[in-house]
Amino acid sequence: MEEFGYRGGELYCEGVALSEIARGVGTPAYVYSRAALEGAYRELDEAFSGLDHLVCFAVKANGNLAVLRTLASLGAGADIVSGGELYRAVRAGFDPKKIVFAGVGKTGEELTSGLGERILTFNVESAAELEQLNETAARYGKKARVSLRVNPDVDAESHPAISTGNEDSKFGVPLAEAAALADHAAGLRCVELVGVHQHIGSQMTRLDPLVNSLKKTTDLVAELKSRGHEIRYFNMGGGLGIRYNDENVPGPRELVEAARPYLESTGATIICEMGRYMAGNAGAMLTSVVYRKRSGHKSFLVADAGMNDLLRPSLYDAYHEIRALKEDTPPTTADLVGPVCESGDFLAQGRELPDAAEGDALAVMSAGAYGFAMSSNYNSRPRPAEVMVSGDRWAVVREREHNADLVKGELVPAFL
Ligand code: LLP
Repeated sequence: MEEFGYRGGELYCEGVALSEIARGVGTPAYVYSRAALEGAYRELDEAFSGLDHLVCFAVKANGNLAVLRTLASLGAGADIVSGGELYRAVRAGFDPKKIVFAGVGKTGEELTSGLGERILTFNVESAAELEQLNETAARYGKKARVSLRVNPDVDAESHPAISTGNEDSKFGVPLAEAAALADHAAGLRCVELVGVHQHIGSQMTRLDPLVNSLKKTTDLVAELKSRGHEIRYFNMGGGLGIRYNDENVPGPRELVEAARPYLESTGATIICEMGRYMAGNAGAMLTSVVYRKRSGHKSFLVADAGMNDLLRPSLYDAYHEIRALKEDTPPTTADLVGPVCESGDFLAQGRELPDAAEGDALAVMSAGAYGFAMSSNYNSRPRPAEVMVSGDRWAVVREREHNADLVKGELVPAFL
């Protein structure tokens, strides 16, 4: 996270003082570092060296076109989960031959769009989806490349809401049923089974669950090969954790070293699809203190950003470091809360925070992944601006929404 740091007492993103951005575009605003995105991508790419591989970016983590363009131009692929993400990925310049499409509920329309773009693989998550894809491809005279997403029944040991590899989770095909489904796929005319996919969870801070899962899913690859299936792609998923606070997290190099024997055993092109690792620490959200108040035994800093702008603290009780823009700001113990009318609307609770005055801006760190991407207009709040920094330059990469955006598409019927 060196791209964000104090210089001469001021918090900078690369060569730009965050106070300059806060003044220029107002708050709340998301700020992304191009260098941090690039650094994380390269770190991942280099970790896989020696293996035929494709590093994909999980678009769900941050779909901003400038962020996507940054990664696409470095050669990254894209992991998408909706027709909307396909649209973004293609617009941003990702090569469709590097796009993989996951998700348990792809509609016929979404499958059609993916076929139209000739994406690399559909990560099929059920027998029913396989039939639907086969029929859709037949209708358009196409053949769809398919990876089977398998559920290895391994606990990712992450937050329950973002663990996806347990037996009872909705994701993937149970491992025990995968071989039969693969044999079935081989008999279908308009799908071609080319790969195996797994993804067991997000923000994983230990490698054991992933390695245990890889043992199972790469064994499956061996079994499928012995049954005559040509498995050209092995997608190990995403989920590598980042440091939000003081977590000790393994890096890409450790991940790939632990996984290498299993990955090598597949003889396939290895795909990984990381979102948070590339974008999480490449972004911060700027917010200003509107009021300070005391209530009961507590002190509150009331910010101009809330759970609609950054949902992670409210939804997962997630920790995001809060930094002052001026390094010498003394600490205080308080809650940093938003203006949204819910008691669950907070950015930090009962923590040591910068003792910011009314009007001061703060930086909510590690907000580049699942930050803006999960924002909403709840309480009819226009969503924040997004900014990208590159060296000593910066640009608005998404305008702050206006009130008119809030009612866009709404109609008052004639009978009213
Ligand atoms: N591949 C698949 C199939 C996924 O479902 C996900 C994330 C990823 C890759 C990327 O995972 P990552 O490398 O970013 O951990 N909103 C939550 C995270 C949800 C993750 C959903 N799937 C959060 O804010 O923590």
